[in-house]
Amino acid sequence: MATPRASNASATDGLDLLAKEVPGSYGIPFISPIRDRLGFYYDGQDKFFQSRVDKYNSTVVRLNAPPGPFMASNPRVIALLDAKSFPVLFDVDKVAKRDLFTGTYMPSTALTGGFRVCAYLDPSEPKHALIKQLLLTLLATRKDAVLPAFRSEFGSLFDSIEEELDSGAGKSSDFNKLNDGTAFEFLGEAFFGVRPSATTLGSTGPSRSTRWLFLQLCPLMTLGLPKILEELLLHTFPLPPLIARWDYKALYKYINEAAASSGVLDTAEKLGISREEACHNLLFATVFNSYGGMKVLLPGIMGCLAKAGEDLHKRLAKEIRAEVAAAGGKVTVAAVERMELTRSVVYEALRLDPPVKYQYGHAKRDLIIESHDGAYQVRSGEMLFGYQPFATRDPKVFDQADQFVPDRFVGEEGQKLLEYVVWSNGPETVSPTVANKQCPAKDLVVLVGRLLVVDFFIRYDSFTAEVGTQLLGAQVNITSLAKASTGASS
Ligand code: HEM
Repeated sequence: MATPRASNASATDGLDLLAKEVPGSYGIPFISPIRDRLGFYYDGQDKFFQSRVDKYNSTVVRLNAPPGPFMASNPRVIALLDAKSFPVLFDVDKVAKRDLFTGTYMPSTALTGGFRVCAYLDPSEPKHALIKQLLLTLLATRKDAVLPAFRSEFGSLFDSIEEELDSGAGKSSDFNKLNDGTAFEFLGEAFFGVRPSATTLGSTGPSRSTRWLFLQLCPLMTLGLPKILEELLLHTFPLPPLIARWDYKALYKYINEAAASSGVLDTAEKLGISREEACHNLLFATVFNSYGGMKVLLPGIMGCLAKAGEDLHKRLAKEIRAEVAAAGGKVTVAAVERMELTRSVVYEALRLDPPVKYQYGHAKRDLIIESHDGAYQVRSGEMLFGYQPFATRDPKVFDQADQFVPDRFVGEEGQKLLEYVVWSNGPETVSPTVANKQCPAKDLVVLVGRLLVVDFFIRYDSFTAEVGTQLLGAQVNITSLAKASTGASS
């Protein structure tokens, strides 16, 4: 295992004299940003960033970030492409995080009831602490509801996969499609104790959410349509928020009623947040942050497992069934905590393919940012853009950095590497607070990832799947399931 050599980037005194200008060029206004965005979308993102690293022999480079004109008024960024420079983005004393959750463009607030929701707030704005506190309180209060809600919803998902494979209707079962419906139900039940399908929303939640999410994220996506169409429709001008108005209204009605009945809106009022602002924030956290995240996270984990093959499946099944048996045949959070390989596998999936790949921040003052190879001057106000896969697949920190190594985080040495797992917008060794911008659901997300692996390998010995890519993550079609030969039960 490579010895970790990275440390948090810093504006270190004494480096000033050595610090270099960040290499790279923004090129010709308007033309170069469009050329850069075409490279980003159509050559492949890894290739796009690697070509800059190679050209300038630096992992800190200037380039134009997508989407560029006319979506973003200023596409010029300093890209951070290694594990050492990247963490400056977590330091809210050095970077401002106002209005840059989606990057160099910001979707209209007409999509969020006229409010700038938590993800767009900088911690220096008093509202940030209030709303983040509300979400942290919600997650703490509902902690015990997560495991039963997950098990009941995903148990049904596994039934559906089996039915689809048995029906002979097709040779495979689309995990992503089933996951969309299941994750939405799970989140409603886990957060508010109200299954969306039992309300007037019915089964429309996932499709309504997807349309609303699409309006916000399409500048960063390609759909495989002819380039000219995609450029004009998705990447040049924002689509009108009106398109998702009715979808948003229906989602709002569900969240409003569910959050009122579960007392979350009362908690918000006590904290000094109006019920309306709280509800728009809860909708965003549930649908954008949580549902959007699970849409990418869970197929990502299944994709890694499928590619890893039967030997790993056997080892996971053995570990999981032994711990469940030791817990009296019950799946408990304490039993899940003891499953070291399962935990490592989830961290490794999050490292290899972080669900949210881009992070941004404006330098609050002149800074010096260090990469492994040099120190660079950054001026106050410049936009920093981290491409996370290059930080978490940094070969100077991780051996076989581009490979899925299931045991990577097992044992004491493995634990030390957790500092470099940063999917939550912060190291895995740090906790979210009202003063930072780390995902408040950091622990919940890792738990959910583990529960998927646990429940799957209680039920099955192994499986096969076709793994491809789609929009923002992996597409997994399950082609076969081998049911558990030895019992563990729960
Ligand atoms: C922030 C990832 C699930 C609520 C973030 C950020 C990331 C992230 C990368 C930082 C964005 C930035 O500022 O650059 C994920 C992933 C998830 C997930 C991958 C699931 C797979 C959730 C869930 C919630 C949530 C379940 C529910 C409460 C938030 C909120 C923020 C945030 C409110 C903004 C934090 C702040 O402003 O301080 N998340 N998240 N996320 N996430 Fe998550």
